[in-house]
Amino acid sequence: MTQTRKLFIKTYGCQMNVYDSERMAEAMGAEGYVTTDRPEEADLILLNTCHIREKAAEKVYSELGRFKPLKAARPDLKIGIAGCVAQAEGEEIMRRAPIVDLVVGPQSYHRLPRLTRAAERGERPVDTDFPAEDKFDHLPERPARTIRPTAFLTVQEGCDKFCSFCVVPYTRGAEVSRPVDRILREAQALVDKGVREITLLGQNVNAYHGAGPDGDWTLARLVRELAQIDGLERIRYTTSHPNDMSDDLIAAHGEVDKLMPYLHLPVQSGSDRILKAMNRKHTAEGYVRLIERIRAARPDIVLSGDFIVGFPGETDADFQATMDLVRTVRYGQAYSFKYSARPGTPAAERDPVAPEVADARLQQLQALLSEQQRETQDSMVGREVSVLFEKPGRLPGQMVGKSDHLYAVHVVTDAAVGEIRRVRITASAPHSLAGELI
Ligand code: SAH
Ligand code: SF4
Ligand code: F3S
Repeated sequence: MTQTRKLFIKTYGCQMNVYDSERMAEAMGAEGYVTTDRPEEADLILLNTCHIREKAAEKVYSELGRFKPLKAARPDLKIGIAGCVAQAEGEEIMRRAPIVDLVVGPQSYHRLPRLTRAAERGERPVDTDFPAEDKFDHLPERPARTIRPTAFLTVQEGCDKFCSFCVVPYTRGAEVSRPVDRILREAQALVDKGVREITLLGQNVNAYHGAGPDGDWTLARLVRELAQIDGLERIRYTTSHPNDMSDDLIAAHGEVDKLMPYLHLPVQSGSDRILKAMNRKHTAEGYVRLIERIRAARPDIVLSGDFIVGFPGETDADFQATMDLVRTVRYGQAYSFKYSARPGTPAAERDPVAPEVADARLQQLQALLSEQQRETQDSMVGREVSVLFEKPGRLPGQMVGKSDHLYAVHVVTDAAVGEIRRVRITASAPHSLAGELI
């Protein structure tokens, strides 16, 4: 019997990293590790990193600086870098940061137990392969865990789109869809443990085309099948690309009750010239038409998006086209970023927009987006929604959950974690709603 050891994981970046961290913890769990939220008592520290923007990557090195005293006090402590920075600059990390003991990329973390043992022998392994074997086939079955009513489930990974600004095709590799039977089994296991809501994950989740019993299945077909699972009450998926928003998926939004009325559909820019330079392969008008079709299928759907301002060559007119698109679409929620040049991507070769111009544009766009978010939230007041309760709130007797439209809702109730109740929305605050049970 090996003694229990402790694992501390810190997760950066997107939801897929959150999912991967859980799976890495489970893989190490099979080796006798239990997770801790205190790095100072850990035997193994893992940083699951994000490379999407420059600032995200810098955080890794500053965090490593904070772990130096821990390592000095306890030389047995092992420190590993996982995720997309590991993939992109694994060798460089090893050179720059002597306190790092192992590096593991997003497609090889099923080998983490072996890499940890190598690190314990004093080797400094770097594994950033895109192995032929499927990591999911080599990870332990998902074990029992503390009940949380919501879960992520990766169904598709990688990206073949090569938007000219983006590192994901390089860090996550080519698009791969997991087979239908594995996904259904994993979903059933989650539901058996009390999960009521599953968010299907993929860098390009609506390009899903996994092998089913009778040929490849689309995401829409997978959603319809998952909706048959008793006890699974809510299905969401993220992130989608406009060009893969197929007719059957749009129809599913109108027909599958368990598919929640919220869609994150990034457009990045409202200027056709910039969209072309970004290699997005769609126009602003094509996107607006698509939104109209989605709204026709599900009129109350709340839309979310991603935007980049200050992409190389972006003029004032291009930026105004983005503002116009936002005014036309009306988002209930959105993320906006200043363009960040990523080494190795085609856009990084081009002349940048002046930083103060990009800053000013980002401020304008964010003001408009938060106004729209507030309006959409305010429009919920007086409406009946369903809320899945996730945890106790700050006030006594209060619980916090998410509405169908993914807004946080505070309710004074005796409902338990995992219960779904009908709630009337009574008030709207900057980042949440309040309501009362019906
Ligand atoms: N797969 C998703 C999102 C990937 S990354 C999609 O295709 O939409 C999440 C968001 O980060 C992107 O939508 C984009 O808005 C932003 N992003 C990606 N690369 C960026 C860069 N180099 N600079 C600034 N923002 C970037
Ligand atoms: Fe990146 Fe574009 Fe792929 Fe999204 S679709 S992950 S933005 S390359
Ligand atoms: Fe970041 Fe990698 Fe996700 S770069 S956004 S962690 S796919």
